[in-house]
Amino acid sequence: MQDVKQYIEQNKQRFLDELFALLRIPSISADSAYAGDVKKAAEFVAERMREAGADKVEVCPTPGHPIVYGEKIIDAKLPTVLVYGHYDVQPAVPLDLWDTPPFEPTVKTTAAHPEGAIFARGSADDKGQFYMHIKAFEYMMKTNNLPCNIKMMIEGEEEVGSSNLANFCMQNKAKLKADVVLISDTSMIANNVPSIDTGLRGLSYVEVEVTGPNRDLHSGVYGGAVANPINILAKMIASMHDEDNHITIPGFYDEVMQLSEVERNELNKAPFDMADYKTDLNIADVWGERGYTILERTGIRPTLDVNGIWGGYTGEGSKTVLPSKAYAKISMRLVPNQSSDKITALFQKHFESIAPASVKVVVKPHHGGEPVVTPTDSPAYLAAARAMEITFGKKPIPTRGGGSIPIVAMFEKELGLKSVLMGFGLDSDALHSPNEHYGIFNYLKGIETIPYFFSNYAKAYLG
Ligand code: BES
Ligand code: MN
Ligand code: MN
Repeated sequence: MQDVKQYIEQNKQRFLDELFALLRIPSISADSAYAGDVKKAAEFVAERMREAGADKVEVCPTPGHPIVYGEKIIDAKLPTVLVYGHYDVQPAVPLDLWDTPPFEPTVKTTAAHPEGAIFARGSADDKGQFYMHIKAFEYMMKTNNLPCNIKMMIEGEEEVGSSNLANFCMQNKAKLKADVVLISDTSMIANNVPSIDTGLRGLSYVEVEVTGPNRDLHSGVYGGAVANPINILAKMIASMHDEDNHITIPGFYDEVMQLSEVERNELNKAPFDMADYKTDLNIADVWGERGYTILERTGIRPTLDVNGIWGGYTGEGSKTVLPSKAYAKISMRLVPNQSSDKITALFQKHFESIAPASVKVVVKPHHGGEPVVTPTDSPAYLAAARAMEITFGKKPIPTRGGGSIPIVAMFEKELGLKSVLMGFGLDSDALHSPNEHYGIFNYLKGIETIPYFFSNYAKAYLG
C-alpha cells in the first residue's frame, strides 16, 4: 500500500499541470458570453473524473450550466460520501488590477505562501479545492485504498446562486443518497493553524432603483429644487446603520440566534491578530457592530453592505447633470435563524417606507440562501478533524465562516444530509478579487488529508 505523501511527491508536477489546464478555461458563470467555456470546463472535469476511476460519469445538462456527476460504489454496506464543489468562477474584472492574466496561472510567493501560490481566477474558489478531491480519489483508486463509496457532484452555478442544482437535487434524491456531504470551498485560519468551518452565513441580495425626475436635468438649472436620486439613495443607505453600526431595518434582528457567553468565548479563542489584520488590508481601523469582536462580526452577526452603486455621469472629466435614476446592489449576510425571504421582505418594506415623496423606488430581489451550522460531534466532523490533525500535526479549530454556500442548507433540507466544510484556502487568498491565488502547500496538503477523512469516516461508520 503506497503512502499518500509518496504518491503526491511522484505525481506533483502532473497534479499542478492538470489544475493549470482547468484554470486556463474561463468558466465565468455570470456572463453568458462565457457559456461555451463553462461547458468546456464541465467536460474537462468529467474527463478527469473518468481517468481517476469514477463510474457513471455524466455532464448533466440543466436550464443553466451543467452539473458534473461521477461515482464509485464499492459496497452497499459501506457508507457513502457525497463530494460537492463548483467549477464555475467569478468574473475576473477589473482586469487592470491583476498583476498577471487571470486565466494564465502563474506561480509566485507571498507572505502567507512562502512555498508559492498559483495566481488565477478560481484557483482557491473553487477549482483548486475541488480538484484536490479528484486527485485524492485517483490516489485511493490507484492504490486500492478507497474505503467507502463516493459520489462526486461538481456544479457550474455556485457563483450565481445554484438554483438549477437545487432542482437537480430534488429530482435525483435516490441517485444522491449518501451519508454525508464533504466540501472544500472555505478557508482555514493559516497554513500552520488548521481550522474547519462549522457554519456559513445566509444571504439576501437585492437591487434598488431610485427615480427622481423623468429625465436627466441640467444640475444648474434644476439643482436645489428637484430631488437628486443619487443624493437620496446615499442618504437612505447611510440611514440603514445607526451610531452603533446596528442595522436599522425594523425586525431585522428578531430571529437572530444569540450565542451563550460560553459559545462566544469558545469562538473568540480562535487566534486573531488585529495588527496583522489591519496591516494586510492597509486600514488604520476596523469597523462594525458595537459590542462584538471581529470574529463575531464576520461569523455570527448579520450584515448589510452595498456591493455596487451607480447612476449619473461617471465618464472622463465632468458633466453637470442631475440624474433621473440611481441604483445600488445590496447584500445582507444572515445568521441562524434568519430567513432569506423574510429579510428580503423586511428590507423592501423599510426601503419603501424611508423614501421621500420626491422619488419613486423599486426593490428587485435577487437569489438568496439560508444560513447553516454544522455539528462538531458527528462521526464525519471528527473524521475530518482527525485527518487534519494527522497531516498538519495539530487539531483543527472549529470556526464560523462569513461567506455563503447556499446549497449547503438545501442539502440538509431536501436530502437530509449534513455537510463537513473541510476547506484549505486562506481568507487572504483574494477570492472574488483581482490576484486570487491558492497555495501550492494548500493544494498538496488537501490531497494528502482527504484520503485520511475517508479512512477515518469508514472506520467510525463501521464501529
Ligand atoms: N466559496 C465561497 C464561499 C466562502 C468563501 C465561504 C470563504 C467561506 C469562506 C463561495 O463560492 C461564494 O463565493 N459564495 C457567495 C454566495 C453565492 C450565492 C454567490 C458568497 O459568499 O458571496
Ligand atoms: Mn466557492
Ligand atoms: Mn465564490
